Amino acid sequence: MGRAGIVVTGILLLLAVAAFATHWKAPQEARTLQNPIKATQASIAKGKELYMTYCAKCHGLKGLGDGPSVGSLRVQAGLNLTILGSESDGEIFWKISVGRAEMPPFELILTPEERWHLVNFIRTLKAR
Ligand code: HEC
Repeated sequence: MGRAGIVVTGILLLLAVAAFATHWKAPQEARTLQNPIKATQASIAKGKELYMTYCAKCHGLKGLGDGPSVGSLRVQAGLNLTILGSESDGEIFWKISVGRAEMPPFELILTPEERWHLVNFIRTLKAR
């Protein structure tokens, strides 16, 4: 590998580390929050309805971050579905509640029940 190759590899490595290190992390107390709402068909249907109204414009119908408002966003809005495997309901609930960057704090807009329905719906989306 020539010098340019080493420099490019170094830059790519740094970018990868930076992206990993800045991934949005919920605080410890959010991790253990218990979801009080069972993921019944009714809850998931309610969550889907809310998602289509409030979230799909940025996150896309399937959570791929490809909604129609995405062009105007500074921060990439991929719902990053890998969180589904690694984060608890409480952490996802916390992120929906407080928001970040262009994402509004939905605790100002939706009741806790509505936010838990959203968590239940988001869990039905599949990472690919
Ligand atoms: C105006 C655009 C916008 C809307 C509307 C929006 N989001 Fe987001 N959302 C974002 C952006 C941008 C991020 C990435 C924030 C960051 O990482 O700094 C994000 C991140 C998230 C995350 C965390 C993903 C991760 O990888 O950690 C979740 C969960 C989430 N949004 C759920 C929702 C839900 C549920 C709704 C609807 C109630 C919603 N969002 C509405 C823009 C939006």
